[in-house]
Amino acid sequence: MGKNTLSITDNRTDKTYEVPITDDTIRAMDLRQIRVHDDDFGMMSYDPAYKNTASTRSKITFIDGAKGILRYRGYPIEQLAANASYLEVAYLVIYGELPTADQLAKWEHDIKHHTLVHENIRPFLDGFRYDAHPMGMLVSTVAALSTFYPDAKNIFDPESVELQTRRLIAKMPTLAAFAYRREQGFRYNYPDNDLCYTGNFLNMMFKMTELKYESNLAIAKALEVLWILHIDHEQNCSTSTMRMVGSSHADPYLATAAAAAALAGPLHGGANEAVLRMLAEIGDVSNIPEYLDSVKRGERKLMGFGHRVYKNYDPRARIIKEYADDLFAVTGSNPMLDIALELEKIALNEDYFAKRKLYPNVDFYSGIIYQALNIPTSMFTVMFAIPRTVGWLTQWRELLQDPEQKIARPRQIYDGEGERDYVPIEARG
Ligand code: CMC
Repeated sequence: MGKNTLSITDNRTDKTYEVPITDDTIRAMDLRQIRVHDDDFGMMSYDPAYKNTASTRSKITFIDGAKGILRYRGYPIEQLAANASYLEVAYLVIYGELPTADQLAKWEHDIKHHTLVHENIRPFLDGFRYDAHPMGMLVSTVAALSTFYPDAKNIFDPESVELQTRRLIAKMPTLAAFAYRREQGFRYNYPDNDLCYTGNFLNMMFKMTELKYESNLAIAKALEVLWILHIDHEQNCSTSTMRMVGSSHADPYLATAAAAAALAGPLHGGANEAVLRMLAEIGDVSNIPEYLDSVKRGERKLMGFGHRVYKNYDPRARIIKEYADDLFAVTGSNPMLDIALELEKIALNEDYFAKRKLYPNVDFYSGIIYQALNIPTSMFTVMFAIPRTVGWLTQWRELLQDPEQKIARPRQIYDGEGERDYVPIEARG
């Protein structure tokens, strides 16, 4: 084994530089010494979309995309999904260790006691148009929380960080359910602290005239598993947004609103909604070959397929698929599931997908489950944002403790015009 360094020869100058390698990585700043003239800026790395740039060291989530492995704090996602409760996993992700029974009881108590939102959120929501998308409502109301909790700007006060963490995890389901009720024109349901985290969410979503809402156990369990799978996924687009905004020392409500906005896009969390729209467009198993042909011609993407990191089956998709069977035993089959299963089978046998290592991702099946839970398509990304809030907050807390982090500020290669003189409007052709 040689030295843990990389030698770089600049053929413009014939000079060789030796830069250290740590964890198979070189520091981009070590390239800066490479220059032709003393007054050159120095070499940068160019990495649009950060395809090969590590922006942080992190102890939270491990992914091996080639092998299809996902672990939170070292624990395989399969074991957590099978054995742990949602709030137990949330505690693990945030604090790094599984809670003791006492720690879990206190954690659950603390979360339950922050589920209410300020009454002024109601008229705020009432201001949206009747057909407002719930994701837009969620992003806006989370940002609005910043105005209710001015203490949240004390981001280096550990007590404040703990309080805002609990508030955000507790209030996201309330805001999400309120957005749904607003969209549906139903009165808002208040939290019921007798219920578990997912049970209470279902209560706020679906309680109508009954005095006490009781959720179906299989449905609450399916939701719990889905949310465990969605808690964190290391430095994806929305999490990097959380860190980017957090790096300017904005408060966690504003940073979470920005992260949720990033999640909304169809290439990220919005994919679960896009999958359902795609399955509806396909309409029937017999139309799949024609649909796939148009994907192969590059006319559209197969939504719910492909991943920047996974070049193998997304382990979350595998787990969801298992729970789907249990759930459909309770809710009855879903015609979309038949189309999805057939679409997956055919796509996995196509050269186009095999060559590009495109496999189903978590969103391929999550939308079908949400649909079986009677959740409208427009709410799917909101459903993703609730558990991902735990991941965003954990990453934000890690960022604040990391002495290497500063305000995030990428570089650019300027490709525009050189200096030129202003031309008066009369003189422009
Ligand atoms: N359907 C058809 N072709 C695809 C797809 C797809 N879903 N995804 C990638 N490709 C092709 C792409 O056109 C390219 O082909 P070529 O080499 O001929 O140009 C090749 O595969 C490599 O793709 P890429 O665009 O370089 O991959 P990426 O890492 O930049 O994009 C992705 C990852 C997730 C944005 C992309 O796969 C995609 O758009 N998938 C559909 C949307 C989706 O399901 N998103 C949810 C991701 S999982 C949940 C989450 O984390 O948010």
